[in-house]
Amino acid sequence: MTHLDIATWQKRALAQTELILTRYLPSDKTNPTLLHQAMQYALLGGGKRIRAMLVMAASSIGESDEQAVEQAVCAVEMIHAYSLVHDDLPSMDNDILRRGKPTCHVVFGEAQALLAGDALQTLAFDVLSRHNNLPAVQQLESIKTLAIASGSLGMAGGQSIDLSHIGQQLSQSQLETMHNMKTGALICAAVKLGALSCFEHDKNTIQALHNYATAIGLAFQVVDDILDNQSDSSTLGKTAGKDADNNKPTFVSLLGIDGAKTYAEDLYNKAYLIAQDIPIAGNILQMLAKLIIKRNY
Ligand code: IPE
Ligand code: IPE
Ligand code: MG
Ligand code: MG
Ligand code: MG
Repeated sequence: MTHLDIATWQKRALAQTELILTRYLPSDKTNPTLLHQAMQYALLGGGKRIRAMLVMAASSIGESDEQAVEQAVCAVEMIHAYSLVHDDLPSMDNDILRRGKPTCHVVFGEAQALLAGDALQTLAFDVLSRHNNLPAVQQLESIKTLAIASGSLGMAGGQSIDLSHIGQQLSQSQLETMHNMKTGALICAAVKLGALSCFEHDKNTIQALHNYATAIGLAFQVVDDILDNQSDSSTLGKTAGKDADNNKPTFVSLLGIDGAKTYAEDLYNKAYLIAQDIPIAGNILQMLAKLIIKRNY
C-alpha cells in the first residue's frame, strides 16, 4: 500500500468508527438521559481510535463478517473509554483533562462517571454477544478474550498494580508485567478480535498477530510514559507531568528518557519485523505500529 492509500485507509477507519460507536450507543434522549449523556461524552468525539484501527487491520487477514468487525470495534473502544473514565477518577489518577476536555467526572460528577464507566463496560459485552454470522463458538471466544483482557488478569489487574505501587520503584520485569496488563492486554484483545471476525484463520498468522500485538501493546504504554514526561497538556489533551506528580513507577523513572525511547524503538522494530510475515494486514499493521511510536499525543 502506498503512503496515500494508508492515509485514506486511516481516514475511512476513523469515520467508520465514529459511525459505529454512535449507532450502538443509546441516544442521550433515552432515559436515564444524564447517564447516557455521560456515556456519550466519554465515548464519542475524541480519541485516536488506535484499538478500533487494530481490530479493522487484523480483520483483513481473511474473509471477515462485517457485523462481527463492527461489534469488535465497538466493544474494544467501549472498554477503553470506560477504563479512561475510571482511570481519571479522584480515587485513581485524579485527572481533570482528557481528550482536550474536562474529564467525565468533572462534568457529570463522580457518581455518574462511575456509572457511565460501568455501563460502557457491560454495553461492550452486550454488543459483542449480538447476532452476527460467525459460528457461535467463535463468537464466544471473542467474548471470553475481551473479558479476560479487561479483568483482574488484564486491564483492571494492571491498574491495581499501578495504584498500589505509588512511590515505589518496580524492576523492569515488574513494570513490563504492569504495562502488559493495564494497556497491552486490551491491545492484544483488539488484534485478536479482529482476527476472530474472519471465518477462517491460520494458526501461524494468529501467533504472529499475537506477537505483534504484545510488542506494540507494551510500546504503547512506554510511549505514553515518555509523552507524559516530555509533552505539554495542550498537545496531549491530558495533564502532562502527572506520573511524576503522582509518584508513579514508569519506564521514564526506571530507564530515564533516553533509555525509555530506545526501549520503545526496539519494541517497534520487533513489531515491524513480525508484521512482515502477516499476510494482507502486514502493511497496515506496520503503519499502525509507526503511528503508536511516532505519535505526539
Ligand atoms: C490512553 O490511551 C491510556 C493508555 C492506555 C495509555 P490512548 O492514548 O489510546 O487514548 P485515546 O483513546 O487516544 O484518548
Ligand atoms: C492508563 O494508564 C491505562 C488504562 C488502563 C486506562 P495511564 O494512567 O498512564 O493513562 P493516561 O496517561 O491517564 O491516559
Ligand atoms: Mg493510570
Ligand atoms: Mg491516568
Ligand atoms: Mg499515562
